[in-house]
Amino acid sequence: MAEHDATSDEAEKLAQSPEDLEAAGRKLDAQKAGARVGLTSDEIIINGGRPLKGRIEVRGAKNLATKAMVAALLGKSPSVLRNVPNISDVRVVAGLLALHGVLITRGDDPGEWRLDPSNVEVAHQADIDAHAGSSRIPILFCGPLLHRLGEAFIPDLGGCRIGDRPIDFHLDALRKFGAVIEKLPSGISLTAPHGLKGANIELPYPSVGATEQVLLTSVLAEGQTELRNAAIEPEIIDLICILQKMGAIISVEPNRVIFIEGVPELRGYDHRAIFDRNEAASWAAAALATKGDVFVGGVKQEEMMTFLNVFRKVGGDFDVHDDGIRFWHPGGDLKPVTIETDVHPGFMTDWQQPLVVALTQAQGVSTIHETVYENRFGFTDALNKMGADITVYKDGLSDPRRRVKRREFEQAAVITGPVPLRGADIEVPDLRGGFSHLIAALTAEGQSKVTNLGIISRGYENFIEKLRLLGADFVFES
Ligand code: EPZ
Repeated sequence: MAEHDATSDEAEKLAQSPEDLEAAGRKLDAQKAGARVGLTSDEIIINGGRPLKGRIEVRGAKNLATKAMVAALLGKSPSVLRNVPNISDVRVVAGLLALHGVLITRGDDPGEWRLDPSNVEVAHQADIDAHAGSSRIPILFCGPLLHRLGEAFIPDLGGCRIGDRPIDFHLDALRKFGAVIEKLPSGISLTAPHGLKGANIELPYPSVGATEQVLLTSVLAEGQTELRNAAIEPEIIDLICILQKMGAIISVEPNRVIFIEGVPELRGYDHRAIFDRNEAASWAAAALATKGDVFVGGVKQEEMMTFLNVFRKVGGDFDVHDDGIRFWHPGGDLKPVTIETDVHPGFMTDWQQPLVVALTQAQGVSTIHETVYENRFGFTDALNKMGADITVYKDGLSDPRRRVKRREFEQAAVITGPVPLRGADIEVPDLRGGFSHLIAALTAEGQSKVTNLGIISRGYENFIEKLRLLGADFVFES
């Protein structure tokens, strides 16, 4: 099999997107300001206590765009993905695709990516390893590479440290399709000696990633696949729309059942990625915590309904428009709530971190039961350092129990407010927790220095520019 001789600097070239170059111009201004206070490029000084006010735009969902790019591998012809956010998770996946011979070019519109999979080839393991970085998306390359090349090497996965993040559901499903998996020191090697055949798969938990794994593998497998206990998040439905555009036959049945009829060939797609619900909820939570008023362009009500209900119960208000949603703090006290994170259409686990900061300002005791991940409250240490009163119960409270039967505990956080937050030096621990640190610094009286910002740029496009647009008072070095 021809070894593709792409090197990872091809992948790095992709990082120089038009937005990156344009932002560089803006960064020069910040550079002068940042240099004055001796900041590094991975930290920001925020003078808190000012309400965020203004309009920002949210683009495509990190948790759809990255998977849609992998889906392009399945097509016989090029694909076009629009509304792609300029975030490092997207650039990492683009680099991995380039290492496998996918020709990637940027369209005329910002956020338009063209992916031509005509010359998919095996990549050097060392290059894949070097480039995969902190991404979890490589695990979704299994099915497409097995269909295209009959083999795949997947490096050990990165991703936020919010739990041990196993991939047993993925590997069990791949074996049911006929994949043979070998554990290597730095990852897994897969082959499909008899090809991939449709299978009946029931997931132990409605795992988003495992559902995507089954979708991306079954569409070209021989015969029918029945997937039970599937995830049905909006990003999953958007991926199914993409696959259907490519020629796949997929039906989403009631009760989390998805039927896929394998087809012999798929073509490229042209698709505009669904908006990022997590980013939208993060800016909404920031508006609430800072007593601000933020119009988040590009977002729709339907995919946000559970969040909107909680936002209103806490005391926020919102107006739905055709081109976005306006979130604001209408004055008066914020109210405590009890939330249980869950799979869609429940309250997303990714929404709780940004909201916790607003709950530190509510009049009373709020409780969050985290039932999806086992270590998703690490970010609260920094909030307590700033004066918050948050207690985390590692083994959860009485009920509900964790839904992922891997371990019989759930985590709970009890937040007592209102407490004034004071500025402090804090380090970003993970993506969503990191954004909650920014919100805390914006909410706190006084100055905060937030470091390790690179993690936030994995999933929040041009967040520094957006803070500037919303009137935040900060100094940042590019
Ligand atoms: C996706 O992660 C998202 N990431 C997460 O967003 C999101 O929080 C999560 O879905 C839930 O909605 C991406 O799409 C890149 P899961 P994923 O498989 O697919 C356990 C963010 O901040 N599990 O639904 O990894 C797992 O440990 C990120 O954008 C197994 O036990 O989530 C977890 O406890 C954070 N074995 C639970 O299931 C497996 O093989 C849910 O995981 C797979 C998962």
